[in-house]
Amino acid sequence: MSTYEVVLSLHILAAVFGFGVAGVAHSTMFRLRAARDMGQVRGHLAVLDKVGPFFGIAALLLIVLGAWLIQLSPSEEKFHWKDGWVLTALISLVIVEAIGGAVIGRRVKSIIGKLEGVPDGPVSADIRALLADRPVWMASHATTAVIASVVFVMVGKPSGVGAVVTVLIGAVVGIASALPFAKPVTAAA
Ligand code: HEM
Repeated sequence: MSTYEVVLSLHILAAVFGFGVAGVAHSTMFRLRAARDMGQVRGHLAVLDKVGPFFGIAALLLIVLGAWLIQLSPSEEKFHWKDGWVLTALISLVIVEAIGGAVIGRRVKSIIGKLEGVPDGPVSADIRALLADRPVWMASHATTAVIASVVFVMVGKPSGVGAVVTVLIGAVVGIASALPFAKPVTAAA
């Protein structure tokens, strides 16, 4: 096995790790939505609050290993930072990380703050409305779908326009998939 193949395998594993973390975050969001009492709500919010840094680790590994692949790429199929598919992946990853921190991370912390002092017991309608936070649902689905769309970009290596369109399709699919969940459940399901 060549060094290139080892680094490519590690790069793919970094993506698998990121999707694993996303799986934890998404399943926690669904459990939060269906929580029956405030103890469960607080427990699920604490998980969401803690997963953020793991996305950062995955992103850093993807970029470092991706950069290494560019460096190692053979002269007959040399990859460059200015290739549309590489630039689109890099910019998408940076935007996804920014949205993760600025929208999801910040709003989860704000919800945790608002729930301080709320007594244990059943989840009220007001709190269910707070938990159905539209920006958090949309941002979390859109960011995962954008990273999934980058897999197509990596494999197909389209032009810059093709790469941007692919990522935009991912973002739209992600946002659309969040809509059914960005409203409060009336009864815990
Ligand atoms: C945004 C998240 C990313 C994901 C999910 C991802 C995923 C992948 C996958 C699945 C492959 C294997 C493609 C194949 O063998 O056909 C790959 C290859 C590659 N990736 Fe990424 N990647 C990401 C970000 C990046 C970034 C930011 C860079 C550049 C710094 C990069 C550079 C590369 C390179 C150079 C290859 C090798 C392509 C080849 O040998 O055909 N990737 N990536």
